Amino acid sequence: MYSEKVMDHFQNPRNVGEIENASGVGTVGNAKCGDIMRIYLDIDENQVIRDAKFKTFGCGAAVATSSMATELIKGKTVQEALQITNKAVMEALDGLPPVKVHCSLLAEEAIHASLWDYAQKNHITIEGLKEPKKDIHEGEEEELSV
Ligand code: FES
Repeated sequence: MYSEKVMDHFQNPRNVGEIENASGVGTVGNAKCGDIMRIYLDIDENQVIRDAKFKTFGCGAAVATSSMATELIKGKTVQEALQITNKAVMEALDGLPPVKVHCSLLAEEAIHASLWDYAQKNHITIEGLKEPKKDIHEGEEEELSV
């Protein structure tokens, strides 16, 4: 049910770890499944992502999507990284089963959260970037309780 690429990135995840004195760090979780993802960015003075690392406490698909997401954003500008959606991450992994789509959303949100932290630390605005949610089900739950 998982593509070879997903299995590869799950079994040999790229970019696992932390970056000391990172330019930006973002953490997001999903209260429903309990998974947590943290992405660290090292960004140079031209707003290019020199390096990206992650730590994920979560399911195999969450590990694979964090691995692929960090691969995709390395070498990109912050603006380009912002355009990387969960769909792009899934496509790069040759797809995910429907019940695992939310894992890729965690990766997209973790990228946004780390970019947000970078923008805050440097007092800059990244066009199109909104304050990320800490929990990707926050909005959903609010809607349900209305
Ligand atoms: Fe929740 Fe994968 S099961 S992130």
